[in-house]
Amino acid sequence: MTRKGILLAGGTGSRLWPITLGVSKQLLPIYDKPMIYYPISVLMLAGIREIAIITTPEDQPQFQRLLGDGRQWGVSFTWVVQERPEGLAQAYLLTRDFLAGAPSAMCLGDNIFFGHGLPEILHRASGQASGGTVFGYHVSDPERYGVAAFDADGRVTRIVEKPKVPPSSFAITGLYFLDGRAPDIAATIRPSPRGELEIVDVLEHYRAEGSLRVERMGRGFAWLDTGTPGSLLDAGNFVRTLQDRQGMQVGSPDEIAFRQGWIDRAGLERQAQVFGKSSYGAHLAGVLRD
Ligand code: G1P
Repeated sequence: MTRKGILLAGGTGSRLWPITLGVSKQLLPIYDKPMIYYPISVLMLAGIREIAIITTPEDQPQFQRLLGDGRQWGVSFTWVVQERPEGLAQAYLLTRDFLAGAPSAMCLGDNIFFGHGLPEILHRASGQASGGTVFGYHVSDPERYGVAAFDADGRVTRIVEKPKVPPSSFAITGLYFLDGRAPDIAATIRPSPRGELEIVDVLEHYRAEGSLRVERMGRGFAWLDTGTPGSLLDAGNFVRTLQDRQGMQVGSPDEIAFRQGWIDRAGLERQAQVFGKSSYGAHLAGVLRD
């Protein structure tokens, strides 16, 4: 069965208030593009063309205005509402019908990945027919994330959410490749003390049965945080620095769609025109010239 994508873009963004009182966090700019372009790009790079986008009821129209039905990128978006932010694992309950038994790749709408070789590791994860694959990334502040504990042989022994004393420096990023059983497994877990269905409990289920792969994303990758005003600005500066130096885009669904062959030249030309005189539009025009 073809793997389907889930983009979780709900939540209140309360750590960014007052910015996010009036607009969804995942619509905020990361330099020259809305944040959600970056995780959409990751799913597209993994070869995924059917994507469910989960938002709050209030924010859904704005996301639809921005993204449409996906046709412009040769993909299809299915719109799903999360009434209340009751945990990441709830995404699997909300997308049960959409997935219809298919394996999935879920990316959190505020996670930004960059690195040489990213498409390769995404394809490797996507190609696994059963079990799950997640990514461990070395960070300076693991207590803010889900964290993997390893034994002496480097095998994962546990995954814990926001541990006061982190068992390692490897955070589990917000990108989860799970097999078709994820909705059933999510249905068996109970809310945590903070009242949420925790993704780590779903991952623990896979780990306990021996079917969870934790791939380390090495130091050549960037996994950027957007959770605080400072890290949001840093992420924007990171993208700006790279793009200005290389003259290439980070997180352009238009360019990815074109290079994947999901839209043709005429399709990309149309998009370049839509974005007109903006720097993003100019970049797309440059891709057409190259
Ligand atoms: C969530 C997950 C956590 C994961 C993180 C990645 O945390 O619960 O396991 O490491 O996303 O961004 P939250 O952003 O909800 O604090």
